[in-house]
Amino acid sequence: MVSYEPYEGAKTERMAADAAAITARYPDPRSALLPLLHLVQSEDGFVSPDGIAFCAATLGLTTAEVSAVATFYSQFKRHPNGTYTVGVCTNTLCAIMGGDAIFDELSAHLGVGHDETTADGAITLERIECNAACDYAPVMMINWEFFDEQTPESALAVVDKLIAGEPVAPTRGASSVCTFKAMSRVLAGFPDGRAGEGVGAGPATLAGARLAREKGWAAPAATASDAASGAQETPVAPVPGGEQSSVDTPSAPPSGGAAGTDSGRKASEEA
Ligand code: FES
Repeated sequence: MVSYEPYEGAKTERMAADAAAITARYPDPRSALLPLLHLVQSEDGFVSPDGIAFCAATLGLTTAEVSAVATFYSQFKRHPNGTYTVGVCTNTLCAIMGGDAIFDELSAHLGVGHDETTADGAITLERIECNAACDYAPVMMINWEFFDEQTPESALAVVDKLIAGEPVAPTRGASSVCTFKAMSRVLAGFPDGRAGEGVGAGPATLAGARLAREKGWAAPAATASDAASGAQETPVAPVPGGEQSSVDTPSAPPSGGAAGTDSGRKASEEA
């Protein structure tokens, strides 16, 4: 049974316009395959057979080539996904901190296993790998929003709210969870204007940066052999929230300096 709108009429026109906007960002159209697959998911709720054909025709690829990519990445779904993907991290740290227990509890409560969707189409449950949030283990992701330091009880409460259609807020990041289709459109490269909502990095994530400032630690300078091998010649100390940082806006200024500055570290201490 086809569970998505046919590729014809207004849908085809809409997707062709979106695809043109996506491919225009790349010098080679085939480089746009990943965002195009997200675009298909934003329309169909998964990577449908028609979506694969659409990507192939748009990018000058074969359907086999598109399928090969779509089946490689677990973020691309080959069967209709739920409105919310509930991913429980069961990688090493989260698992021993309770991730396995959370997954087992949710699985029993929802009556589904890994990569299965509830009969009402609300929830797809997944075991997921490390989401680089080990400092907040055990972590649950809902449509890739963080739910930190979960317990079986807190995870059940969140999932029951989703099923009841009530709004749910992540523990950090965006102020609410959007649908799988809405999230997929953002991943396709069409921002929803909410990227700046909330706090990206909390105190646990910034503990290392705070300690470095307090202790006056800095990355060692590049050596001549680094420069010869093409490594960065002029090391730049990353600033939380800055261009060189993977850290989003801190929730509070690290001790010893104001947020977004390195006033807590003296130049003489870096020499
Ligand atoms: S092991 Fe779960 S976020 Fe890293």
